[in-house]
Amino acid sequence: MSDIYIHGTEPSEQARLALLNRMTNAAFVEFLRVAPGSRVLEVGSGLGILAAEVAASAAGVDVVGVELSAAQISAATPAPGVTFRQGDANSLDFPDASFDLVYARYLLEHVADPGRVLREMRRVTKPGGRVGACENDVSVLRFDPPCPAFDRAWDVFVRFQATLGGDALIGRRLYRLFRGAGFDDVQLSLQPEVHWHGSPAYIAWIHNIIGNLESARNGMLTAGVISLSDLNAGIAELERLKTEPDGSGFFAWNRAMAAR
Ligand SMILES: C[S@@+](CC[C@H](N)C(=O)[O-])C[C@H]1O[C@@H](n2cnc3c(N)ncnc32)[C@H](O)[C@@H]1O
Repeated sequence: MSDIYIHGTEPSEQARLALLNRMTNAAFVEFLRVAPGSRVLEVGSGLGILAAEVAASAAGVDVVGVELSAAQISAATPAPGVTFRQGDANSLDFPDASFDLVYARYLLEHVADPGRVLREMRRVTKPGGRVGACENDVSVLRFDPPCPAFDRAWDVFVRFQATLGGDALIGRRLYRLFRGAGFDDVQLSLQPEVHWHGSPAYIAWIHNIIGNLESARNGMLTAGVISLSDLNAGIAELERLKTEPDGSGFFAWNRAMAAR
């Protein structure tokens, strides 16, 4: 089984993913609390930017990144303590109980069977180890002043991702998914995004959201799920919001951490 990745691996999309990493990595690395000497697995490691920061977060940490796309692995920058393997999250090519910590970020929303991926993540984790995830529920994304054309385009994006087998709303399901994968001890938390005109990441955050739509532009237009004018109107609204002196936005990433 292979999953269809809605964002693709164009250089513009890889630049957006790198930008998103710069905005979100510090809080996520803190959430992981990696112990020195840990053997760690990131599933769906993308460009490896997060894996590099996780490896550097404590002494003697080794991170293996498993990634489906050869294009992502080729674009990854080598970093101390990090190795990449091309592979599929649905069927991890590691023996049982191989890692102290296994995590996935922004991956489960893209796979057709997230429960299967979590069971695989659990299988390769040592007893006493931990499994973590960070995902989104894009329905909680808000901007002010209101952006109705963007909201309509965003709804289409959510439905389009579902037609590819993904789930842009998966964040709300993490607890149930973890429990279904066999974890008894699961803790949930949120990682907030709160940005307003003049705050450090306000423009970058809006740029990232526009990039989400842009990455699916060709797919949505080819599938006929949105018209060119409606898509452009939604993006134009967010471009205007970048310069709106009263503009603001908020969102929260959904996180789960479970004991094996
Ligand atoms: C949004 S990126 C996140 C990358 C990284 N985890 C991060 O936080 O920056 C999702 C990555 O998952 C990869 N991916 C999608 N389906 C996969 C699968 N079944 N197995 C492994 N990787 C997969 C994509 O190619 C993409 O690089």
